[in-house]
Amino acid sequence: MADAVAATDPATHARAAGLDPARLPRHVALIMDGNGRWAKKRGWERFLGHRHGADTLRTITSECVHLGIARLTVYAFSSENWQRPAREVAYLMDLLAEFLRSEVPRMQENGVRLEAIGQLHRLPAHVRDALSDALRMTAANTGTVLTLALSYGGRDELVDACRAIAAQAARGEIDPAAIDAGSLRAALYTAHDVDVVIRTAGESRVSNFLPWQAAYAEFITCQPLWPDFTVADFLRCLVEYQGRERRFGLVAPG
Ligand code: IPE
Ligand code: IPE
Ligand code: MG
Repeated sequence: MADAVAATDPATHARAAGLDPARLPRHVALIMDGNGRWAKKRGWERFLGHRHGADTLRTITSECVHLGIARLTVYAFSSENWQRPAREVAYLMDLLAEFLRSEVPRMQENGVRLEAIGQLHRLPAHVRDALSDALRMTAANTGTVLTLALSYGGRDELVDACRAIAAQAARGEIDPAAIDAGSLRAALYTAHDVDVVIRTAGESRVSNFLPWQAAYAEFITCQPLWPDFTVADFLRCLVEYQGRERRFGLVAPG
């Protein structure tokens, strides 16, 4: 069970991986893609890819803890994924509940605080129960925040935020002329900007993930399918991120 993070300090660990500890991303977002292809390559049912993918998530979360990365947000199930075959959806939901129940001790050991974003009310009751237990049990942890995007869609998030603001306006609590980017940000599922989005399995699309928060994120595509994605692959992505020049619309320095 343990797999608690080793004792080296985060800066030493980052340097050993060829990273500048001062320029690590504060918020990494991961599109965990390629589970189905991983299983298909082996002639197995897609489900087994999801099961092995859960192991990868465990490993990469521990690495973020080890590096001292503040936030890791992972795309675990999209709004569109509800349209997959019912058997696959049911398997994913059971796997999610199992993951939530089995991971809490490790999260406690590693100081990980769990969060969740998305239309959580659409999740089946047994997943909602496992989720609320895990959220409650890890709420006081002060280390890496692991956010699961579940039943998440960026367009849904924007629509839900607009509804909330419109309701405030209808109640006279906000003047429509005063609505600004800050109002919208505050009404989103999460207000935290993303520094880097990493997508596995060679795809270069955002698939409705964090459109607001990742507006100025660096986007990195890597080839391994999610169940094959290793700590070394992750560190390579972070090295690539550190090689990028972020300009935010300004003129490049020098
Ligand atoms: C990502 O892997 C996991 C989820 C979307 C839940 P996929 O299931 O999309 O795997 P591929 O892309 O079909 O290989
Ligand atoms: C995005 O992957 C959603 C998750 C990783 C949970 P998909 O496999 O669903 O995205 P598309 O269909 O390739 O765009
Ligand atoms: Mg996919």
